[in-house]
Amino acid sequence: MSETIMSTLEENRSFNPPQGHKGHISSLDEYFSIHEQFKSDFDGTWRTLAHEHLSWSEPFTRVLDRSKAPFFRWFDGGKLNLSENCLDRHVEAGLGDRTAIIWEAEAGEVRRISYQELLDDVCKAANVIKEIGVEAGDRVIIYMPMIPEAAIAMLACARIGAIHSVVFGAFSPQALHDRIQDAEAKLVITADGGGRRGGIHAMKPGVDEALSGTCLSVQHVLVVRHAGNAIEWNAGRDIDWHQALKFQPAVCPPLAVDSEHPLFILYTSGSTGKPKGILHSTAGYLLWASLTMRWSFDFRPESDLFWCTADIGWITGHTYSVYGPLANGGTTVMYEGVPTYPDPGRLWKICADHGVTIFYTAPTAIRALKKAGDEWPNKHDLSSLRVLGTVGEPINPEAWMWYHDVIGKTRCPIVDTWWQTETGGHMIAPLPFATPTKPGSATLALPGIDVEVVDEHGKPVSEGGGMLVIRQPWPAMLRGIWGDDQRYIDTYWKKFDGRYYFAGDGARKDKDGYIWFMGRVDDVLNVSGHRLGTMEIESALASHPAVAEAAVVGRPDELKGEAICAFVVLKCKPGDKLIAELRVHVAREIGPIAKPDDIRFANSLPKTRSGKIMRRLLRDIAAGRDITSDISTLEDQSVVLQLQQPGKA
Ligand code: WTA
Repeated sequence: MSETIMSTLEENRSFNPPQGHKGHISSLDEYFSIHEQFKSDFDGTWRTLAHEHLSWSEPFTRVLDRSKAPFFRWFDGGKLNLSENCLDRHVEAGLGDRTAIIWEAEAGEVRRISYQELLDDVCKAANVIKEIGVEAGDRVIIYMPMIPEAAIAMLACARIGAIHSVVFGAFSPQALHDRIQDAEAKLVITADGGGRRGGIHAMKPGVDEALSGTCLSVQHVLVVRHAGNAIEWNAGRDIDWHQALKFQPAVCPPLAVDSEHPLFILYTSGSTGKPKGILHSTAGYLLWASLTMRWSFDFRPESDLFWCTADIGWITGHTYSVYGPLANGGTTVMYEGVPTYPDPGRLWKICADHGVTIFYTAPTAIRALKKAGDEWPNKHDLSSLRVLGTVGEPINPEAWMWYHDVIGKTRCPIVDTWWQTETGGHMIAPLPFATPTKPGSATLALPGIDVEVVDEHGKPVSEGGGMLVIRQPWPAMLRGIWGDDQRYIDTYWKKFDGRYYFAGDGARKDKDGYIWFMGRVDDVLNVSGHRLGTMEIESALASHPAVAEAAVVGRPDELKGEAICAFVVLKCKPGDKLIAELRVHVAREIGPIAKPDDIRFANSLPKTRSGKIMRRLLRDIAAGRDITSDISTLEDQSVVLQLQQPGKA
């Protein structure tokens, strides 16, 4: 068990919500009464919320269809368009001049885009995409830096009913290739490159490489010229974004699609080798993105400035950099750059310069910025902040307290939000002006969400740890895994015989019913808030000619949460440079975030009699802990000694 988890288990500090402000949900009593409403009329309560928060082209006739569970359907019969909900309805309400996006580049350039301008650009881009031959239901890959055009591309797809799949810009050409192929995408939208750490991170060459193999489905590549790096041009295939948009009318009628029309696919790591395409649909996802903005952040579109630091390549960027704020008609900040450039005060400077009121980031960033020292936030006026959020991994109480004291000056409630790519939006989080918080706990489920901590048999555990399950469907739940219904059933529903959604997280419930997360219970690592499958990294290593076999486990890491530790059996003698070469190889196969921190060689891997790798033993070895596994059955016990020698990564 990691030190982080040990300290959360002993945590007993509690903080009352700030007084003097009435939140969208303003007391625990109100929170419990909404829960009761859901309990007494589940469908009716969702119906009311869907009417209140979304604009429908045609009303839905049924709230929830459970007949083909676990393939649930929400708001059947209804038709709507997501981009219309995020743009047109605000412009029609007279908010055309309100800023939708404030974008800041690493070098300091700032762009403010109003709702009217955003709508115009989305229409133009949608017209271009349509002209290229993309139709409703076709897949479009978006591989871009954090620039407004990325959000425009997403909204443009939604406007015409195309399904977008954003691929994180630091994923390798190989990872991009795999996703393009799995989605059978017709179009890739990219940029020449993005600004990073004072230099340029080229992207278009990655797309060229990804398409050089067998991605036959892709007909065109739409390229935003942004960073100015030299790129090769594939005439006939490549189209210049700005040139193409210039000649388009700023009008494109939004296509009213069915509530269940697929909105996007987002690939995420699971416990087997191949990343899975998590599929989300339109109405339920949008409703929940919109509602959770209000509930968990107390978002006030007319006065708040909201900044979620996540890249749009992750679900957090989808729901809380783009769709959640825009569905509410609010203003969202986008920053293209790293948090420590040119110095570790950059994020705080952006907060101060623009007057950010709600700030949302990952514990790994908080830990890194805490380590850089209090002088950095103290240089900037952070008095505009009123709510602080975290997401992606359990937050250790020390980081929570620093966020609370040094960034929030004890004024701002901390909302620790637990959710997943699969859940679409927050599931467990404090309501900032209602729920007392405890450092390290995501607290209670949001209204309408029914979670429990259960044992192996699905029985609720009253004390001690268990697994987190979700007992009722929710509107933003994934609708499946792209092209693999069986994997959807096997991964999420089989464990508890179709009764509960199995999240893959270990959790504990305390005497107040608060939930404390304890990390994954499957072979998924959480490295700096990014999900990575151990098998994915193992197959990347095994694809190197020198490697016979590899096993990958996580070990606790002060900054990253978890670090990647690889145990490798070689086909040849280890040369001096092999560790470095293997790390580069993994970065090339998956992306730099998957590079092992520690690589150790041995003659064989410790296995059980039935041939399973003894992962618990490897985790103990990686963490430098006493070995708790029974190793008496190991044929060659000397491998344990070998593996205990740290490698030089
Ligand atoms: C972990 C990110 C503890 C968890 C939105 C989950 C968390 C996985 C928290 C999903 C949190 C996310 N406390 N653990 N507040 N938030 N996690 O799909 O293990 O990238 O299953 O979605 O991150 O990661 P994903």
